[in-house]
Amino acid sequence: MARNKITIVGAGNVGATTAHIAATRQLGDIVLIDIVEGFAEGKALDIAEAAPVQLYDCNVTGTLDWEKSASSDIVIITSGLPRKPGMSRDDLLAKNVGIVKDVSERIVKHSPDSIVIVVCNPLDAMVYAAAETTGFTKNKIMGMAGALDSARFSSFIAAELGVSVEDIKCVLMGGHGDDMVPLPRFTSVSGIPLTQLLDAGRVAELIERTRKGGIEVVNLLGYSAYYAPAAGAVRMAEAILKDKKTVLSCCTYCDSEYAVGGFFVGVPAILGGSGVEKVIELELNKSERALLEKSVDHVKQLAAKVDKLL
Ligand code: NAI
Ligand code: 2OP
Repeated sequence: MARNKITIVGAGNVGATTAHIAATRQLGDIVLIDIVEGFAEGKALDIAEAAPVQLYDCNVTGTLDWEKSASSDIVIITSGLPRKPGMSRDDLLAKNVGIVKDVSERIVKHSPDSIVIVVCNPLDAMVYAAAETTGFTKNKIMGMAGALDSARFSSFIAAELGVSVEDIKCVLMGGHGDDMVPLPRFTSVSGIPLTQLLDAGRVAELIERTRKGGIEVVNLLGYSAYYAPAAGAVRMAEAILKDKKTVLSCCTYCDSEYAVGGFFVGVPAILGGSGVEKVIELELNKSERALLEKSVDHVKQLAAKVDKLL
């Protein structure tokens, strides 16, 4: 039986870490692509040399050559500038649209039947750019943000309550920005509503920390987070490659869903072998809906900027 093939574009912090985690989970053979001579090759070699210690069987190839990515099952786009202290994700838009457009054209040429997971920022706008450029069926192109933002929210809740991270299930919607919408009403600790375990003021503080989770790491490190983002990307790839039907927040196409009107935004969805298999529509209350509308409006403004640049 042939192994799955996963191409990861960008061998930087997120890309290389995604490759390593995917290898440890034996998701398939991995092709790592970058534009810097020797960079992807070096990272791939290093990951391959860890295999006898960590006991994974897969080929890890680093290259500048897109031919080697041919017929991938999944392509994960991490190529793009990351932010530095003082920058918002939106400041990256103009530069990263050009990169995503170029990469998307190559995906169409070399892996026309692949499923694409976009990671680079500003996330929702880059998913839109990739979708417009590839023309792929909408359920085969998606963005990773909800997996990361929910992981951040879950990790803060687990630490606060002194419980296992395994027990936390949370739902988070909207764009990958400061106006993302964590939903405490749909968050539970082994089935117990979060709202019964933590007072509203403390929940609001954890939500605010989640919204600012990206910049908290940037301010500490001087550059952008990558362990948790890579783990989020691999979680999505694994759900698809193993047809797990995982329920996860991801950036996907919504038209009538939540009355979004044809844009890519973060919503809970079922991820399986064919990509995004279903968007789950929650009954939001008035204030939750207002927060989602504000976040979606922001995503639409960014998409309009992308339209001018494509
Ligand atoms: P990085 O700078 O470490 O890596 C980016 C890599 O992309 C570099 O090695 C660069 O040479 C490569 N690259 C640039 N243009 C390319 C092209 N046309 N083809 C192939 N490779 C190319 O950056 P890092 O930290 O890995 O972040 C990558 C992106 O992911 C950034 O845009 C960042 O903002 C975003 N990000 C998104 C997250 C999310 O939740 N969606 C979380 C963390 C980062
Ligand atoms: C993050 O949230 C920068 O989007 C990236 O860490």
